[in-house]
Amino acid sequence: MTMNKEVQKKVLIRELDYEDLPHVMVIEKQAFTSPWSLAMFVLEMSKPSSICLAAVSRRNELYGYLVCSRYDDVWHLMNVSVEADLRRKGIAKLLLDRMFELSQRDDEKQKYTLEVRLTNVSAIKMYEVYGFRSAGIRRRYYKNDGEDALIMWYVCTTGEGQAGGHEPGLLGQRR
Ligand SMILES: CC(C)(COP(=O)(O)OP(=O)(O)OC[C@H]1O[C@@H](n2cnc3c(N)ncnc32)[C@H](O)[C@@H]1OP(=O)(O)O)[C@@H](O)C(=O)NCCC(=O)NCCS
Repeated sequence: MTMNKEVQKKVLIRELDYEDLPHVMVIEKQAFTSPWSLAMFVLEMSKPSSICLAAVSRRNELYGYLVCSRYDDVWHLMNVSVEADLRRKGIAKLLLDRMFELSQRDDEKQKYTLEVRLTNVSAIKMYEVYGFRSAGIRRRYYKNDGEDALIMWYVCTTGEGQAGGHEPGLLGQRR
């Protein structure tokens, strides 16, 4: 069994809870140069159209989280982050798999978009594995340092939210 599979077996994906937010803010501040505020998480979690997920240990320790909101007919993947020491063990994959599963409950044909820093190579690679494709640049999108954002889209025509199990699609979260 690979290390990833061992870790994944110990990780539970559940709905993000307001009680998770103090730990979310710790991970968020470590992960991003312009972290979301607590209020931004509270706002997204209050929307019925949002999918907000937590990856936790069996003892309910927070390993990572994901926030995705639906606007009109497009899902906006707004935030995904994993505790630095626990990266590259398949935790974001579990969060994304559940996001695809939940967003495709009623109709598998869904559209997804996101924005990511041009220098965030690991995140871009991860999104590409999931079928996201670049669809342009938003110049000076990130207010704190003026970095450009890569806009990515994934249009699911076949169902499935599994890495490698869907068609590449046509192909936006400000920090
Ligand atoms: C991006 C991030 C969420 C990935 O989380 P993770 O749990 O480490 O990702 P996973 O282990 O599930 O990786 C899934 C796949 O994505 C790709 N990937 C993830 N990190 C990668 C890296 N550093 N380099 C290359 N590919 C990577 C791989 O294809 C990986 O599958 P593999 O390990 O079987 O090859 C994590 O690096 C993170 O929290 N970064 C800081 C926050 C951030 O930048 N979020 C994205 C904002 S847009």
